[in-house]
Amino acid sequence: MKKYPIYIAAMAGLLSLAATLPLQAANESVATTQSHSQQNAIESRIQSLLAQMSVQEKIGQLALRDWGTFKAEDMKDIKQAIREGRVGGFLNVNFSSVDNNAFEELQRLAVEESPRGIPLLFGQDVIHGYETIFPIPLGQAASWNPELIRNGARIAAQEASADGIRWTFAPMIDISRDPRWGRIAETLGEDPLLTSILGVAMVEGFQTDNLSGPTSLAACGKHFAGYGAAEGGRDYNSAYIPERLLRDIYLPPFKAGIDAGMQSIMSTYSSLNDVPGTGSPFLFKQILRDEWGFDGFVVSDWNAVMEMIPHGYARDAKHAAALAANAGIDMEMHTDTYEQFLARLMDEGEFTEAQLDTAVANILRVKLRLGLWENPYPRAKTPAEREQIIRNDQFLNAAKEAAKETFVLLKNDKQLLPLKKGQTVALIGPLADAPHEQMGTWVYNGNKEHSRTLLPALRAMVGDKGKILYAAGLEYSRDTSTRGFKAAIKAAKKADVVLFVGGEEAILSGEGHSRGDIRLPGAQAQLLAELAKTGKPLAMVLMAGRPLQLDQTLEQADAVMMAWHPGTMAGPALAEVLYGETSPSGRLPLSWPVGAGQIPIYYNHLPTGRPATDDNYTRIEKIGREVFQHQPGNSSNLLDYGHKPLFPFGYGLTYSEFHYSELELSDSTLDADGQLHVSATITNTGKRTATETVQLYVRDLVGSVSRPVRELKGFERITLAPGESRRVSFTLKANQLAFHNAQMQQVIEPGEFHVWIAPDAESGLQGSFTLQ
Ligand code: NOJ
Repeated sequence: MKKYPIYIAAMAGLLSLAATLPLQAANESVATTQSHSQQNAIESRIQSLLAQMSVQEKIGQLALRDWGTFKAEDMKDIKQAIREGRVGGFLNVNFSSVDNNAFEELQRLAVEESPRGIPLLFGQDVIHGYETIFPIPLGQAASWNPELIRNGARIAAQEASADGIRWTFAPMIDISRDPRWGRIAETLGEDPLLTSILGVAMVEGFQTDNLSGPTSLAACGKHFAGYGAAEGGRDYNSAYIPERLLRDIYLPPFKAGIDAGMQSIMSTYSSLNDVPGTGSPFLFKQILRDEWGFDGFVVSDWNAVMEMIPHGYARDAKHAAALAANAGIDMEMHTDTYEQFLARLMDEGEFTEAQLDTAVANILRVKLRLGLWENPYPRAKTPAEREQIIRNDQFLNAAKEAAKETFVLLKNDKQLLPLKKGQTVALIGPLADAPHEQMGTWVYNGNKEHSRTLLPALRAMVGDKGKILYAAGLEYSRDTSTRGFKAAIKAAKKADVVLFVGGEEAILSGEGHSRGDIRLPGAQAQLLAELAKTGKPLAMVLMAGRPLQLDQTLEQADAVMMAWHPGTMAGPALAEVLYGETSPSGRLPLSWPVGAGQIPIYYNHLPTGRPATDDNYTRIEKIGREVFQHQPGNSSNLLDYGHKPLFPFGYGLTYSEFHYSELELSDSTLDADGQLHVSATITNTGKRTATETVQLYVRDLVGSVSRPVRELKGFERITLAPGESRRVSFTLKANQLAFHNAQMQQVIEPGEFHVWIAPDAESGLQGSFTLQ
């Protein structure tokens, strides 16, 4: 029987009680991979390089240019710039219409012809796979399985480094509470602990414990900070986050990543409390460097330095350069304001050479740690070598196994799922055979030619035992034409069960792709209504970059499984889970709203003075006409959407059932330096082997500031055979109960706490203890 480790807050290094951490904190974490003598050697190498470099060469190290933007007529100049040491790195070397895949050539210019021979750093958005595409990050987060995420990142790193990429712009560890925001697809959900643990796993997968190994990529935590709180879910929009919320919810994943040795941080496009992130000394100087002791480098987001002009924060490009450089942005992505203005700003006393040296040192430190001098060139030396690495069977199989753990079964009336091989299945819907769409957002190197879709996978699964009648009904998710309905309905009528695969195309989520209406696009709801009229059992698989408003669809479908965008191996993974070879085990990494009007909705909200319950208000359809004003109740709810999400954070069904019993606390009190064991028995009362994610929540009943109604403090995945029981025990320490008080000090306050061991954020066995 599988046993998974227990994940608790303390593991992610989240809860140091000191409001400020010692300066060497980040160094210490890297020390796991580097001895002190190696670190000293790196620092003295940096000093000797700085001593030799001209100001122009130093500024050159801060330049990250986008290879994909250069035209044929630019080639001569940019190559000359490399020769002169005026470029520190490139992104998107794979995306040139002029000279694609120039990694080796560009590096040779830097190493052999530039004054100091400093290698270029090649970065790229390797977000959920390189050519072997894994599920989108939000889907991966639904696995609640750090091992899976670490492995996915490791495979992506092995593939990307084959081409010469040694730096990825991941993990995205922005907390988001807004499914309208298209980039929620790239997040790891709404919870700081889950995001921290999974984000750290991704960092570990990319970087390994040997950053100088040829397959390691430097990770980049983004977007610092508050990007996920874009107002109204509109991308790039202002974020307003009070400092306590920032420190308790939005920053912990970054701190955890840095403690795990994450080498770089990307600034946010958005403004945070009226200051564009890219120009914020509070974020980059005070928090990142002074409080956390980060010693890697900070990169601006693409064009973000110049965007401080339309933000109304910088007067012009020179001012933007001054603001960014003084805020602590070491490297400028895409634009060249540093190249144009930093030297002049230094002459004018607006920026100093000591500051420049610090920025250069931060970048050189990471380049040296990556061993770029020893391994400057792409790892795959020949196409045949590359062939052996990229999309090999082991990687594809890992992508399939990963996808299987990300599917969240939301509903399964009358145990419609798993399907039975003898059934005739009408496979309908725009995403059942959509090789491009199933890969999701941020796919630069994945190619739909390599995607395995559900249609052939189902056919292979049933063989000659059953029949798959395929009629898409709609050509793509936004299709409004009803032309294909007739064939789809005909197939449904002939079948034992209808399997509808719909949702959103890949382009409907991701950067800049937010939606105000998060219902199924196009005529999908209409098609589903028609299919429901056939009276056939209806199972629905959703592929999307966000939770969707399901409206009547939920009642029309007997079973619903959220598959996110599962990646290259979507088809075989889905087939195996739909036919019960594996029971679904995904859990929601966010609260699934009833409708967009309920957003923001998140489980760890504060209590109100008038909390809503199931019976202290009247739903809109039951309110009589002309009733007295207070008659429907006065509590914190929406008359139409209620007060709860459609499905809570942590929720997910499987083909078996689990029973929770015998909650026990090792003590009724917890000392500030003590620990408490909270345990319960979990029993698989169903008929199949299945995996349960057992969750630990707490509530601090009274605080010097109001405290959330629940906070996740740990989780453990357990796999149990039918009839099997397991005692799951969590250790809770007082420092896991810390928060920032009104004075912005991180404190633990004595008092009464509730604690739950639970299958999701709304239920579970409840106990209590006193912190003294
Ligand atoms: C903009 C995005 O915000 C960021 O996440 C990405 O890494 C860069 N572009 C580079 O592509």
